Amino acid sequence: MNRDMFTSAILLAAFALTGVSLLFLVHAATKERIENNERALLLTQLNEIVPSGTYDNDPVTDIRTIAAPEALGSDEPLTVYRARRGDKTVAAILTTVAPDGYNGAIRLLVGIRANGELAGVRAIHHRETPGLGDRIDAARSDWILDFNGKSLNQSQPGQWRVKPDGGSFDSFTGATITPRAVVKAVHKALVYFDENQDFLFDAHIEKSK
Ligand SMILES: Cc1cc2nc3c(=O)[nH]c(=O)nc-3n(C[C@H](O)[C@H](O)[C@H](O)COP(=O)(O)O)c2cc1C
Repeated sequence: MNRDMFTSAILLAAFALTGVSLLFLVHAATKERIENNERALLLTQLNEIVPSGTYDNDPVTDIRTIAAPEALGSDEPLTVYRARRGDKTVAAILTTVAPDGYNGAIRLLVGIRANGELAGVRAIHHRETPGLGDRIDAARSDWILDFNGKSLNQSQPGQWRVKPDGGSFDSFTGATITPRAVVKAVHKALVYFDENQDFLFDAHIEKSK
């Protein structure tokens, strides 16, 4: 009887070990693929803002992590991706958050050229209402492309608002909260860039995760 119990225990342990080993192998095999897919998606998003032909570094790894809750809208440190060509700075793409969307925080990529002009803005994560606030999504409407080429120099501070608030940016019929939040966040990112450009482009490179 004791021997049977011993054999069962050994078998059980062997099954458990095989199971754990299999899980470990599957995890190891998929982890790298998931990381590669995430990296490719990020690069596609960055290249929509700053075309790949305009820089020769790897902006996915040439990053700075910045904690600037007031300017960038989040208590968590956020990543800034840098595009360079040779020793010239091309653009910084700031991850920034509009905390006051209709359905919560809206995560944005704000690309700013070295001359202070917006290279482009994209909403990369939000929960705004389909058919209303989700028109900030480049896949849903061209609204977000209106930021292209704008800068602090070319406009009065008051223009960095949606039209119902007296500014120059269109809002959506019956949905002003979302575009208002995005315009505010992009403006804050531009001001932050203007005040911290040297620090943002500092060649100090962090290891990406
Ligand atoms: C179910 C529901 C979902 C809504 N979703 C949004 C939204 O995603 N974004 C937005 O700005 N407003 C949304 N609104 C409208 C806002 O409550 C608010 O009325 C509007 O943003 C104000 O814009 P207006 O001044 O142009 O009317 C939603 C309203 C309802 C009832």
